[in-house]
Amino acid sequence: MKALEGIKVLDFTHVQSGPTCTQLLGWFGADVIKVERPGVGDATRKQLVDVPGADSLYFTMLNHNKRSIELNSKDSVGKKILTRLIQECDVLVENFAPGALDRMGFSWENIQEINPRIVMASIKGFGPGKYQDCKVYENVAQCAGGSASTTGFRDGPPLVTGAQIGDSGTGLHLCLGIVTALFQREKTGRGQKVSAAMQDSVLNLTRVKLRDQQRLDKGPLTEYSQFGEGVEFGDSTPRAGNDSGGGQPGRILKCKGWEQDPNAYTYFIIQAAIWKKVCDVIGEPEWKTKEGFVSPPDRLDKLNEVFARIEKWTMTKTKFEVMEICNPHDIPVGPILSMKEISEDEGLFATGTLVKVSHPERGEYISVGNPIKLSDSSVEVTRSPLLGEHTKEILTEVLGYSGDELTDIISSGAVGDVK
Ligand code: COA
Repeated sequence: MKALEGIKVLDFTHVQSGPTCTQLLGWFGADVIKVERPGVGDATRKQLVDVPGADSLYFTMLNHNKRSIELNSKDSVGKKILTRLIQECDVLVENFAPGALDRMGFSWENIQEINPRIVMASIKGFGPGKYQDCKVYENVAQCAGGSASTTGFRDGPPLVTGAQIGDSGTGLHLCLGIVTALFQREKTGRGQKVSAAMQDSVLNLTRVKLRDQQRLDKGPLTEYSQFGEGVEFGDSTPRAGNDSGGGQPGRILKCKGWEQDPNAYTYFIIQAAIWKKVCDVIGEPEWKTKEGFVSPPDRLDKLNEVFARIEKWTMTKTKFEVMEICNPHDIPVGPILSMKEISEDEGLFATGTLVKVSHPERGEYISVGNPIKLSDSSVEVTRSPLLGEHTKEILTEVLGYSGDELTDIISSGAVGDVK
């Protein structure tokens, strides 16, 4: 059995943030019913198309383990079916623009009346307050959540990161809120509303930078490279380049082949406990006892010199050789892996973190499987549904429509072109 077996999810999500949440619920065994606008569907189906006529990777990689029903939720027949779905489901997840669900006639109050046991989960860009009505995408959340102002180099502009912390990050937060609410429902019998704002989720993931903001009031941030370089701090947490965030000095350093390969780099951390081993490995054994190099505080104003010397050594090795040499000494290093290298990593396929999925329109593609492993709830990644692929199945098997009633619904146009 799967952890969430028996749980029905009314998936009213689109684009990235919401779909990542419901995909996780699907991987944990919930029956996820994705409601899509007839003939159109989730906008990502037709965004960044690489195989003409087929659903894009954008859509397929975010919507595994779901069923799709086409339903016009603004039409009277559509509203009737949506009401039945709310009655049948345990969870409703949505990430429409603020107010869209209310405009359809399905406010939280109405939904609760229809099914008091339902958990309703929403993602919005901002929480209650002056920005609550704004539409928000990933990079806006990264900027409003404090990530962009603290990412990049001191002498450059703010940077967004390739990790989708605003969308997928909020999807993860929401998913945790949903299972927690389901857990509470076991005791109270009542559903509740779960909200996750993208700004809040990004800020939660950037909390160490708010830590540093408050430390700044007490003095300079000594572990930042700029301290060793004698550059004064301003009044807010600065961008720290590739400095290690945890108080252990670290940098990205060039490795053999860096002139041709943009990813021939390693991350290298000089944790206090392994400093002497670092000195031996790079061929500077005298640094172990040299004045000004012995303790971490001594070295703070020499980090550029220290890392330049380590880089002289890493440039004679490939990023994988650096790892092989340093790992036995417990020196924390990590190769900068390209997406090409990751997509060919057999170890990641072996654990199910990467999966090959076959799709009727696009053939085989690689996707990221469930990164959360449960020992008693295995995951089989199934392909994303075609638009409306399960409309009839859901109308009959989940909602019990048959005969003339079913014929009337199908001919009403509210559920698209039923195959
Ligand atoms: N039947 C009928 N109408 C439907 C429907 C269906 N099955 N599904 C959606 N719609 C309608 C909505 O009701 C809405 O209509 P309205 O504007 O008349 O109220 C309309 O489609 C568009 O929905 P909206 O959410 O406004 O989409 P958008 O493409 O304009 O905006 C976002 C997209 C992502 C910016 C916006 O949804 C948003 O801010 N979401 C919250 C934050 C978020 O999740 N952002 C990250 C996305 S990765």
